[in-house]
Amino acid sequence: MSKPVVFSGIAPSGNLHIGNYIGAIRHWVKYQDEKDNIFCVVDLHAVTVPQDPRVLKDKTREVAALYLACGIDPQKSRVFIQSHNPDHAQLAWILDCVTPMGWMQRMTQYKDKSVKQKEVITVGLFNYPVLMAADILLYQTNEVPVGDDQKQHVEITRDIAQRFNSKYGEVFTLPEAMIDMSGARIVSLQDPSAKMSKSDPDKKGSVYLLDDPETVGQKVREAVTDSGQEIQTHEEKPAISNLLSIFSALSGKEINSIEEEYQGSSYQKFKQDLSEVVVEFLKPIQRRYREIREDSTYLDNVLQQGSDSLKSVSNKTLRAVQEALGLG
Ligand code: TRP
Repeated sequence: MSKPVVFSGIAPSGNLHIGNYIGAIRHWVKYQDEKDNIFCVVDLHAVTVPQDPRVLKDKTREVAALYLACGIDPQKSRVFIQSHNPDHAQLAWILDCVTPMGWMQRMTQYKDKSVKQKEVITVGLFNYPVLMAADILLYQTNEVPVGDDQKQHVEITRDIAQRFNSKYGEVFTLPEAMIDMSGARIVSLQDPSAKMSKSDPDKKGSVYLLDDPETVGQKVREAVTDSGQEIQTHEEKPAISNLLSIFSALSGKEINSIEEEYQGSSYQKFKQDLSEVVVEFLKPIQRRYREIREDSTYLDNVLQQGSDSLKSVSNKTLRAVQEALGLG
């Protein structure tokens, strides 16, 4: 039996934060042995909104190095940069031509992003989910581990695949979103109604994986809290619940036992300990990250091997698609 194919990606727009780790990367790491894993740095998605070219190039390598530093093992998983494989853009174009406008107009992330976007809204931003569908479908992916905000995009990917298959023959595997409810939604430290986000202009809302200990301490100390003083997970205490989720995910302790430990304690003491937990958690990741960035040949090789070995897979799908459509 072959292993299920897993595909996921993060756009190199902004800084990776502990929400990316808790909601996505740690699950990728955990299932590395059981699955056939493909982890992509989706730079073509990043350019759906304006990026500084030099910053983008550096961030792309930063994200790839952070995947490895967080425990993605290139012997077990393939890591690559989306724009290194032109099949993604090719398939996206073809899928554009089978996707009804009406489906795309319903995408909530597009609606949110286009409201926030101060500059012109491009066709690329509108088509973002089709490019994501191409990423997933090119490798006959079975599982897509993502945060709950991406569920709609995985669903439209299935719809597109199904529509293609029924019109032109069974070419694509239908993927499934894998959403881990226990930690999929880490929210902003400044606004618990919003997801922790790489593109949040308020940098105090997110703890970045590369933040130094002092910055971590400050961000945790200044995190908003709820009224009352109990350190307990509760619907009406979204800020404290979030801090407890972070504490639990990064320390490996159960939420119940943390609640017990801090019974009668103060928010201040809890935050102080939380910031230590976060700093200790980040230390080895940052050390490994620096080692990887210092040896650029190593990273280049990993990325090259990743894209080389994947091109033969994506080419096969693309050829089947072209054949089905009568292209070429
Ligand atoms: N849209 C995803 C996000 O914002 C990133 C992404 C692009 C992705 N292509 C993908 C995730 C393919 C999973 C699979 O998080």
